[in-house]
Amino acid sequence: MNPNLMDLATSSPANLGPVPVTTSSPGIFSNNPYFSAGFGLLGVGAALAVLRQGARHAAALTKKQLLVTLEIPSRDKSYQWILAWISKQQQPQAHLGKINDIASSEGGAGGIRRRWNRFLEKKIRSATMPRHLAVQTDFKQHENGNLTADYSFVSGPGKHLFKYKNCWVQVDRVRETKMLDLVNGAPWETITLTTLNRDRTIFKSILEESQRAAIEQQDGKTVIYNSVGPEWRPFGPPRKKRNINSVVLDQNIAQDLMRDVREFINNSKWYDERGIPYRRGYLLYGPPGTGKTSFIQALAGELGYNICILNLSERGHTDDRLNHLLTIAPERSITLLEDIDAAFPVNRQSEEPGQFSRSQITFSGLLNALDGVSSAEERLVFMTTNHIERLDKALIRPGRVDYKVYLGNASKHQIIEMYIKFYPNDKNLAPIFAEKIGGRSVSPAQLQGHFVINKHSAQAAIDDVESIFST
Ligand SMILES: Nc1ncnc2c1ncn2[C@@H]1O[C@H](COP(=O)(O)OP(=O)(O)OP(=O)(O)O)[C@@H](O)[C@H]1O
Ligand SMILES: [Mg+2]
Repeated sequence: MNPNLMDLATSSPANLGPVPVTTSSPGIFSNNPYFSAGFGLLGVGAALAVLRQGARHAAALTKKQLLVTLEIPSRDKSYQWILAWISKQQQPQAHLGKINDIASSEGGAGGIRRRWNRFLEKKIRSATMPRHLAVQTDFKQHENGNLTADYSFVSGPGKHLFKYKNCWVQVDRVRETKMLDLVNGAPWETITLTTLNRDRTIFKSILEESQRAAIEQQDGKTVIYNSVGPEWRPFGPPRKKRNINSVVLDQNIAQDLMRDVREFINNSKWYDERGIPYRRGYLLYGPPGTGKTSFIQALAGELGYNICILNLSERGHTDDRLNHLLTIAPERSITLLEDIDAAFPVNRQSEEPGQFSRSQITFSGLLNALDGVSSAEERLVFMTTNHIERLDKALIRPGRVDYKVYLGNASKHQIIEMYIKFYPNDKNLAPIFAEKIGGRSVSPAQLQGHFVINKHSAQAAIDDVESIFST
């Protein structure tokens, strides 16, 4: 023991006595038991601090050498896929079988070993069980179009652990409390995956597998995207594809349109070789309820494309944003601008922002965005209107609109076709029904409504035909 410390420890308050202090002599500190003890303690403290810092540095260095992390911000497309996928990996039962096997197989090897296994088992159990869950609601669409909600649990904010391909992966989901995503007002989040450096290749497989799982979930469905600020976000659950044959258009309209679209999407090289921007614009016009929206939806389903709905009147849209949105539309998607006349009636098709002042888009901004000089990617734009006569010629000139098609009220051919689709067992009554309509204007939407009311009787649909015109 340090003799100075011994002195301090053995000296009682009674025998301390007054201590002479002489500033002229530096040797006084070394001779003074209090100062010596103080310096001794300081020295130990400093040494410990240095050691602690050294240990921290060593730990950080080891961590850097041994561990590898992958950060996925909530703005990244893969964020939701990964979140859903990780939650599946963390099903509490997933590892229990194996753990129990270990515990029982090594059970006879002695008390200490058994206790160690039990301890390990408990640790793994508690570490792999996601303690903080968040609910995620999915919707399921049934044959009859009804939606039901399906709840699943995803990993909530916090640290979680799971095993993938025999490698342990730590998930750290962090939600910023102070930072909001400016685009959608949601809290900013990041997921950080950490694993051993030697297992770094599993990150790629995790990304690929989670993407595959997400795509499988969308298979056979059409995803509808809406613009949220400057980006596209899926809107609601993926929709069941609409069968193209369920939309009855006059004569060859549907086939011709389909052929044109297919021709376009299969000929990127042709456009490329000629330096022509690879885009095509379509305009479907005609009275309400004639199948414009339905056909585009069915067409997307037929091609395996998704739909990006762009509302020109939306608050906050500007010319730049419109241009940006059109440029970054997800791959294999149709950009749909509905009721194009409403945003820019003919008397407002000037430099001023659109009719609804919430949007800052100018007419020339729209024209430029449709031209999309900056885009070399495939761009398929569909527009609809009830009033083609209200559209400025510049908007529908070739290059912006390359294919116009009129969808009118139901022709005799459509009336018969629709009747047969609703009453396949009473085909022979179809001409009688068409006869009773007798050339009056009726939209396919009106016909559909009438057939839905009379769904149980083909004859009632004929007898009650006048009700179509009385409302
Ligand atoms: N040609 C058609 N064949 C079968 N069903 C149709 C047809 N046209 C319309 N319908 C039915 O009518 C309803 C409305 O159709 P849709 O929304 O496609 O009309 P629209 O032309 O887009 O009308 P709007 O101009 O008002 O937007 C849908 O439920 C659709 O099933
Ligand atoms: Mg429509």
